[in-house]
Amino acid sequence: MNLAMRKIILDVDTGSDDAVAIMTAILSRELELLGVTTVHGNLPLPYTTDNTLRVMDFMKSQIPVYKGCPYPLVQDLTPGRRVNGDEVKHDTVIDGKVVAVHERELPLPPAVSGVQEEHAVPWLWRTLKYAEEKITLIPVGAMTNIATVLRMDPAVAAHIDEIICMGGGINVHNRSYRSETNFYNDPEAAKIMLNCGVKVTVVTLDATHSSWFGYEEVDELRRIGTKEAEFAAQMLYHRIYAANLIGARAEKKSALHDVLAVCAAIDPSVLTDVRHESCDVDIGGHIADGSLMVSSRYRYSRPENPTYIAYQADRDKLFAMLCRYLARGEKITGEGKTLGGEN
Ligand code: BDR
Ligand code: CA
Repeated sequence: MNLAMRKIILDVDTGSDDAVAIMTAILSRELELLGVTTVHGNLPLPYTTDNTLRVMDFMKSQIPVYKGCPYPLVQDLTPGRRVNGDEVKHDTVIDGKVVAVHERELPLPPAVSGVQEEHAVPWLWRTLKYAEEKITLIPVGAMTNIATVLRMDPAVAAHIDEIICMGGGINVHNRSYRSETNFYNDPEAAKIMLNCGVKVTVVTLDATHSSWFGYEEVDELRRIGTKEAEFAAQMLYHRIYAANLIGARAEKKSALHDVLAVCAAIDPSVLTDVRHESCDVDIGGHIADGSLMVSSRYRYSRPENPTYIAYQADRDKLFAMLCRYLARGEKITGEGKTLGGEN
């Protein structure tokens, strides 16, 4: 084991971009991935867990996967809370199939590995509590697992080096007028996480959308010639195609949100505009439910809550990092066989 590696735990709701984020973390040499925990979000928990296992098998990884929380903390206990003035609910069906940015099953062989018996939350608690070195948490789904651990035992916060989460949006939103999906999926959990006293870097939609990719990048990924890069190309292609088709976006491009959070753990300079600002999450249950609020008045005024909001990213650096890691995968040969690649 390389002692210089940063110890991380990925908390995912896999998910097309989560899948590429997991591959990136496994292929990087700067991160030591201790385990992957799954949570509800893009899809119900059985699917996010199964998809995570598919990715781990595809990567031939032995890193353990722990199934976490299936529901948000309390959000769904309030009738009528989910009223969202911006949500248009209709299915786009092509050839009898509903088109979604996150398909229920990733196009990978069914998983042969299984999840660990232990639930993600006690595993997170135990791993943090007894860690010799502080651990970085990278939640890129709803923050339910992280918040539950912090509620169970707030003292474990002392064992967290940093939380780098993908969530929230300042001027860019993808779920309601003011909210981003991961925060919207469990607003109370996002609030608990932001207020836990640990350094939290919030990789917002503003940052991920400042670094989005199009069909040109799909082709570039394909040219790398590894099975991991080919799969990432497939994910990016699908995200562009689906978001465009369902009317979420007019431009033919897409962000790989969760990859940016992982790359920020490797090289923070991939985030180019990061501001130390006070922030919170609306849990009022109305139209701004789950939205990230950043104070323009109390900047730097809450040293007990060191939150850092990322507004922008270096798109070229991000893509170069992604390509570099994916090139370390298994080379695709002419006969469709694979050989170990190195880079
Ligand atoms: C976030 O929500 C999910 O759809 C993605 O996987 C990403 O984590 C973007 O808002
Ligand atoms: Ca995600």
